[in-house]
Amino acid sequence: MRTIAILGSTGSIGKQALDVAAAYPEDIKIAALTAHHRKEELFEQVRRFQPLAAGLTSGEVTIPDDVKFCKWYFGKDALRNVVRDIPSSDVLVAVVGMASLSCVLEARKKGKRILLANKETLVAGGHIIMPLCRMDHDNPSLIPVDSEHSAVYQCLQGAQGNRFRRIILTASGGPFRTWTKERMMQAQPSDALKHPKWSMGSKITIDSATMFNKALEIIEAKWLFGAQSHEIRVLIHPESIIHSLVEFEDGVQLAQLGTADMHTPIMYAMQYPKRKPSISGRLKLEDVGTLSFAAPDTERFPAITMAYEVLNLGGMAPCVMNAANEVAVSHYLKGHISFGRIFDTVRHTLDKLSDLSGSDADEILLGDMKARAQAEQYISQN
Ligand SMILES: NC(=O)c1ccc[n+]([C@@H]2O[C@H](COP(=O)([O-])OP(=O)(O)OC[C@H]3O[C@@H](n4cnc5c(N)ncnc54)[C@H](OP(=O)(O)O)[C@@H]3O)[C@@H](O)[C@H]2O)c1
Repeated sequence: MRTIAILGSTGSIGKQALDVAAAYPEDIKIAALTAHHRKEELFEQVRRFQPLAAGLTSGEVTIPDDVKFCKWYFGKDALRNVVRDIPSSDVLVAVVGMASLSCVLEARKKGKRILLANKETLVAGGHIIMPLCRMDHDNPSLIPVDSEHSAVYQCLQGAQGNRFRRIILTASGGPFRTWTKERMMQAQPSDALKHPKWSMGSKITIDSATMFNKALEIIEAKWLFGAQSHEIRVLIHPESIIHSLVEFEDGVQLAQLGTADMHTPIMYAMQYPKRKPSISGRLKLEDVGTLSFAAPDTERFPAITMAYEVLNLGGMAPCVMNAANEVAVSHYLKGHISFGRIFDTVRHTLDKLSDLSGSDADEILLGDMKARAQAEQYISQN
C-alpha cells in the first residue's frame, strides 16, 4: 500500500492521479490533497478520498462542516507544511510553476519518494534537488511522471547498468508543426491551445506550441539521468506513440510505446514497481499503421536551441529561461502579446540575466523573481 500526498490535485495531472487512486483503492491511499484556488473542486475530492489533510495555497476560506474531519492548511506555505506534517510514502508533485521547490526539498528531508510531474522546479533547481535523490530502479527516491522521462526511466530498466549513449526525447511537434514561421508568429491562443495529441493544462499546451516544453524536458533529462547536453536529442514524432528512446553504445535503441494518455506514466509512478492493468486505452499498432519521424526545425522553434544554450551556460540560466517563458505565456494567454513575442521575451531576459547564481532554494527563488521582473519590464516597454 502506497500512501500518497497529491500536490495540485485539481489540475490535469492531479485529477488523472485520482482516477488511478480510485481504480486501485487496495494499493493506494490518498494522504493529502491540495489546490490553489479551486476550492469547491477540492472539497469534493476531500469528500470522496477522505485524506488526512488538505491545503489551499491561495489563502484561508470557510470550510464546509462535512470536510472539517481533515486537517486544513492555507496560504503559500501550505504545500511544504503538508509534506512536513502529514505522513505519506510518496508525494506526487503536480502543481505548476516554482511553488513546489521547497516542498520537493522537504519531501526528501522526510525520506519520502517524489513522483515528479512538475518541470519548472527541476529545471531551476536540479542542482540542489538531484543530490538528494536516488534514481536507481531498486528503491528510487524520485520517479519522473512526465511521459518522456518516464519512458527513458523505463528503457533504462533494461540497461543492466550499461550507460546510455544518447537519450532521444520525442516531440509531437505541437499544433504548429506544419505552419510557416510567419503564420505561427501571429497565432492566436485558441490556435495554440489545440494540441493535436495530448490533453493538458493551458500553460504546458502553449509550451508545446512554442516547443519550450521540449526545451524544459531537455534540461530535466540532464538532471534526472546525468546526461550531458550532447547526449540529449529531440526527435519529432507526430503520432506520439513512442514516448522516448535510449540508445546504447552498440547502436541498439530501446523505446517505450503507448497511447498518448498521461494516466499511463502517472500510474507507473504511483504503482512502481508493479504493473497493473491499464485504466486507459491499449495501444494497437495495427490501427496506428505508420510512425513518422523528423529532425526538429530550430529556425521555427528556437526554444530547442535556447535549451542547449542554457545548459551550456549552467548556473541560473535555465531558471531564467523558465521564468521568462512563464511570464510571456501568461501575457500571451491574456492576449497582451503575440505568439512571436514569447521567444523575444525569453531571448531578451536571458541576454540580460544569464550570469545569476543560485546555490540554495532562497537564491533560486530570488533569481526566478528577478527574471520575472525583467520579463515583465520588457513586455510592458514593448
Ligand atoms: N498536464 C500534463 O499532461 C503534464 C504532462 C507532463 C508534465 N506536466 C507538468 O505537471 C505540472 C502540472 O501540470 P498540469 O497540466 O496538471 O497543470 P494544471 O492543470 O494547471 O494544474 C495545476 C495544479 O496546481 C495548482 N496550482 C496552481 N498554481 C499554484 C500555486 N501558485 N501554488 C500551488 N498550487 C498551484 C492548481 O490549483 P487550482 O486548480 O486551484 O488552480 C492545480 O491543482 C506542470 O509543471 C506541468 O509542466 C503536465
